[in-house]
Amino acid sequence: MSARTCLTIVLAAGEGTRMRASRPKVLHAIGGRSLIAHVLAAVGAAGGAQAVVVGPGQGADQQALVAAVKAAMPSAELFVQGERRGTAHAVLAARPALARGADDVLVVFADTPLVTPQTLARLRAALARGAVVAVLGFRPADSTGYGRLIAGTDGALAAIREEKDATAEERAIGLCNAGLMALRGDAALAILERIGDDNAKREFYLTDAVAVARGLGWTAVALETGEDEVRGVNTQAQLAEAEEVLQRRLRAAAHDAGVSMVAPQTVHLSADTRLGRDVVIEPYVVFGPGVTVEDGAMIRSFSHLEGATVGRGARVGPFARLRPGARLDADVHVGNFVEVKEARLAAGAKANHLAYIGDASIGEGSNIGAGAITCNYDGAAKHRTEIGKGVFIGSNAALVAPVRIGDGAYVGTGSVITADVPADALALGRGRQVNKEGWAARLRRVVGAGKKLP
Ligand code: UD1
Ligand code: MG
Repeated sequence: MSARTCLTIVLAAGEGTRMRASRPKVLHAIGGRSLIAHVLAAVGAAGGAQAVVVGPGQGADQQALVAAVKAAMPSAELFVQGERRGTAHAVLAARPALARGADDVLVVFADTPLVTPQTLARLRAALARGAVVAVLGFRPADSTGYGRLIAGTDGALAAIREEKDATAEERAIGLCNAGLMALRGDAALAILERIGDDNAKREFYLTDAVAVARGLGWTAVALETGEDEVRGVNTQAQLAEAEEVLQRRLRAAAHDAGVSMVAPQTVHLSADTRLGRDVVIEPYVVFGPGVTVEDGAMIRSFSHLEGATVGRGARVGPFARLRPGARLDADVHVGNFVEVKEARLAAGAKANHLAYIGDASIGEGSNIGAGAITCNYDGAAKHRTEIGKGVFIGSNAALVAPVRIGDGAYVGTGSVITADVPADALALGRGRQVNKEGWAARLRRVVGAGKKLP
């Protein structure tokens, strides 16, 4: 089995009009990853497959598709289906790849993102056992719009009938076509070329591969899978349904890996979220793409993380925001209403309340007071703030970057720091306090007498 070669053709030339969105359908994301990237990940994980993508070949959309495909699978080759004339026609757009020959040909839809590598392998295994066409079937709660799998008198698969072309009797069949298909490589072109467009939509249906193969005396088989794995995304509502299925899978995998989540249904994960052992995630946390949380760290409620690394034993939140480039080393504490962007906090550093730390580095064990801000942007460019080890930044300090605070220094509360602070120094960058004796009492007398303020 592993010795067999495979060509996987991913169809992505559909219009996606039902999404009512400017972005191409297959570039919409679930779990922070585009639909087509999910499909390519499954194809890659199934192993041994060379992948090609058939796209619509139009302007900016095509460029965006090419970029997404190259990022997900650099080796994937792209073909263009100029005119949209059906799924078999789309597969034939990859004719040069088909002509190169492969033992197995897999056809998958880019808008069916939840398919697993195991199922792709099952379809190929059916070919290895002698089938020429293997089709994936499922029993949807509502079969509207799906092709029906028609069994022959021998019990094997005889044909697939699209709903528009089906008789009432055929429509009553519960087993539907999921859309994925495997074809024996040396028969694929012969089958595809015999498919015509004599049907209600005057399209070249890939589904006719079954009847054509049977007509040539070859075997077609159907495998079955659950509905969740083959949910297609045609509308925003279906995108949300697919997201729900994916989230359930990701949460289950996190639980299996030893992550503690008491309200998993309120935690939103990304497909690439990496969570270590003994990680605790409180209710209502959002993980955008690119987050790693190391062993024993705790992410408290209402925190939002994206492109961030949280070190061993660190604590984040409640109500914290870690933006791309946030890197917290071991035992760092980032508390409520603290935002961290493109900044590293070394081991044991703390910013417990109300702070903005952007384009900065904070040394070991330093403490950032409530309301402290790195003023990293001067309206034109971003600048860095470098804070050493064991530094104490008083509450409400404004650190105007570029600026460096030496090891062990103190920055007084409310300071506006515009120049570097030497190690072990105290920096006071604020006006001197003035107390005016009796001033408030005089004010009350004036107002109490109904007079105007002096
Ligand atoms: C298809 C199947 C149907 C199955 C259903 C499962 C056919 C004829 N019908 O119907 O049996 O139950 O999927 O979801 O195959 N595409 C192209 N070029 C085209 C047409 C389609 O690239 O000219 C791509 C689309 O981008 C999409 C896929 O092929 O990824 C399926 O096309 P779609 O129009 O959604 O087919 P369905 O009507 O859903
Ligand atoms: Mg569809």
